[in-house]
Amino acid sequence: MDPISTIAQEVKDELERITDLSALEKFRVKYLGKKGAITNLLRSMGTLNKEERPVFGKRVNDLSKEVEEKLIAKETELKNKARAFQLRLETVDVTLPGRSPNLGHRHPIKQVMEEIETIFLNMGYTVAEGFEVEDDYHNFEALNIPKDHPSRDMQDTFWITDDVLIRTHTSSVQTRIMEKQKPPIRIISPGRVYRCDDDVTHSPMFHQVEGLVIDKDITFGDLKWTLTLFLKELFGEEREVRFRPSYFPFTEPSCEVDVSCFACGGKGCRLCKHTGWIEILGSGLVHPNVLKNVGYDPKELGGFAFGIGIERIAMLRYGIDDIRLFFESDMRFLRQF
Ligand code: DAH
Repeated sequence: MDPISTIAQEVKDELERITDLSALEKFRVKYLGKKGAITNLLRSMGTLNKEERPVFGKRVNDLSKEVEEKLIAKETELKNKARAFQLRLETVDVTLPGRSPNLGHRHPIKQVMEEIETIFLNMGYTVAEGFEVEDDYHNFEALNIPKDHPSRDMQDTFWITDDVLIRTHTSSVQTRIMEKQKPPIRIISPGRVYRCDDDVTHSPMFHQVEGLVIDKDITFGDLKWTLTLFLKELFGEEREVRFRPSYFPFTEPSCEVDVSCFACGGKGCRLCKHTGWIEILGSGLVHPNVLKNVGYDPKELGGFAFGIGIERIAMLRYGIDDIRLFFESDMRFLRQF
């Protein structure tokens, strides 16, 4: 066989066996490169005589063109194969159910707080803000809490200096509001409070909502009516509400308010410690000394106040027996609400 036919045969055989692009590139260099077999054939033309040259040249050129075309065809074929393989790897089944994005939601404590706020906003109250860092005067003195009262003890209060503390209750907003706002006053004030206390039902930081109403001719009847309405809104129309005499330095008379147990309906169970009742909040008519402290005349103006612990409400409602769960940021716990 002559060299052109030999090379043509080689090219055919080799090309069939090529399965990837890098082998194809080696193939191109081997035949069409500067020192490639076909290029060498063209160079060897000088050794031929005049008559042979045109025929030989045409055959080599034809072969060269043919190999180039085959190369392009092979390259396209290999690229298509690679792409088809890639596509199969990355196939997306659009009929599968989608993954829903992780939506956050309000913390259970915030949820209860907002429920309480909504009820009072609907009754015409406004929401007031207080300070978490307070002075002795607004947290204790102005609220008629005497110097030797146990709640001032180091055991209960986080003192910052002799005079400054982080508030132990939201009642500290009462006199702050009365000092700057003219009656009639009708506010609630939700927020964080702090006490040196830490066990399954006490956290050093927890939340309260304070309520304060100041106007002419406010009676205990107004207090009873307001809180009964509020508690039935919060816990259900079927709840019984009970007012028990109690003592707070800043109210006179004072009471604690219970609702019939929402687990057993009043028959008695573990949740209500077999009393049928659950204590919800503290309240009373604003003490005349508190009114005098902000320059009001107790003969002219009066009012009522109440304070409610949010964690307690959330724990009772959701059957949670460890207050610390609220503040550990464990998503498995929080996602349930
Ligand atoms: N400040 C009280 C506490 O932290 C709760 C309270 C009781 C608030 C009676 C009041 C009230 O406004 O009238 O235990």
